[in-house]
Amino acid sequence: MSVIEAFDLKKSYGSLQAVKGISFDVKSGEIFSMLGPNGAGKTTTIEILEGLRTKDSGQVSVLGLDPWKNGYELHKRIGVIPQGFRFFDKATPKEAIKYYADLFGVQTNAEQILREVILQDAENNYFENLSGGQKQKVGLALSLVNNPELLFLDEPTTGLDPQARRAVWQVIKNLKKAGRAILLTTHYLEEAEQLADRVAIMDHGLIIAIGSPYDIEQRYGSQERIKVVGPKELADYIRTHSNFKVTYDDATAQIEVGIQNKNDALTTFKLIEQSGLDWRDLSTERDSLEDIFIRLVGSLDEEGSAVSVQNKVGN
Ligand SMILES: Nc1ncnc2c1ncn2[C@@H]1O[C@H](COP(=O)(O)OP(=O)(O)OP(=O)(O)O)[C@@H](O)[C@H]1O
Ligand SMILES: [Mg+2]
Repeated sequence: MSVIEAFDLKKSYGSLQAVKGISFDVKSGEIFSMLGPNGAGKTTTIEILEGLRTKDSGQVSVLGLDPWKNGYELHKRIGVIPQGFRFFDKATPKEAIKYYADLFGVQTNAEQILREVILQDAENNYFENLSGGQKQKVGLALSLVNNPELLFLDEPTTGLDPQARRAVWQVIKNLKKAGRAILLTTHYLEEAEQLADRVAIMDHGLIIAIGSPYDIEQRYGSQERIKVVGPKELADYIRTHSNFKVTYDDATAQIEVGIQNKNDALTTFKLIEQSGLDWRDLSTERDSLEDIFIRLVGSLDEEGSAVSVQNKVGN
């Protein structure tokens, strides 16, 4: 069953086409991640699905509802953390939860929510004194107040240090275990790889690849490679005794053998052994989601977030 369905969704701001006709669905209980560089159209898409922005054309359905027409009903059933979430400086996480519960007109167990987002230790600290990771956890806590079946998390870990990011990942994993579906946007490939059942890579308003990280790696990644360090004669030996693509790097003595399947791997191992030549550091390697992303979209900044090539050259 799908909790979100989007078909040929389009949205422009004046002459800028921010979303150019995207289609995807999010299944009940899954984590679906939209991955893409700045300006790709992630927030625009997510806010249309939340009923906060109008679409120009296409069809969207969230929990079976039209988010724009049935916003009131929808907001009772979804949880949202907007991009760059902040709260009143002088409120504690516990007060924030109570405030939100009043706003929604729901009864809530603040203690349980604080436990769910692993924030009990800071429940009485002012928001302004919380660490970046704890602030994001307050956002997660508030998104849970109405016990939603679907969560929208727009860049929940941007700007966090690696440790805090992992702490938030743990909370997100727990939320999934508790059966909630999550639509998550991120710049971080590792985050999508760690958390998402399926990923949509967006760039310039289009989805350019969609599927599980494994599917995307299979579909867009280059073939698996066996790497081994040895003399050039070893590369020649494997090349003459197989039809594999074999390359040799003189500087590092690195041999790379392109393989298709397990049999090819076994054949390569046998040839290495048969050659009687010296070898070391045998490993297999395939493209990661990051390698593929860079090839499809652009490059990464020092922090490992996506930077569009076009943005980089100033377009
Ligand atoms: N309200 C608006 N008015 C005009 N242009 C907008 C508006 N909101 C977004 N845009 C533009 O639409 C494009 C897509 O923006 P959007 O915020 O959806 O991207 P994003 O993928 O969320 O980017 P980021 O990773 O930086 O959050 C950008 O070029 C942005 O400048
Ligand atoms: Mg955004």
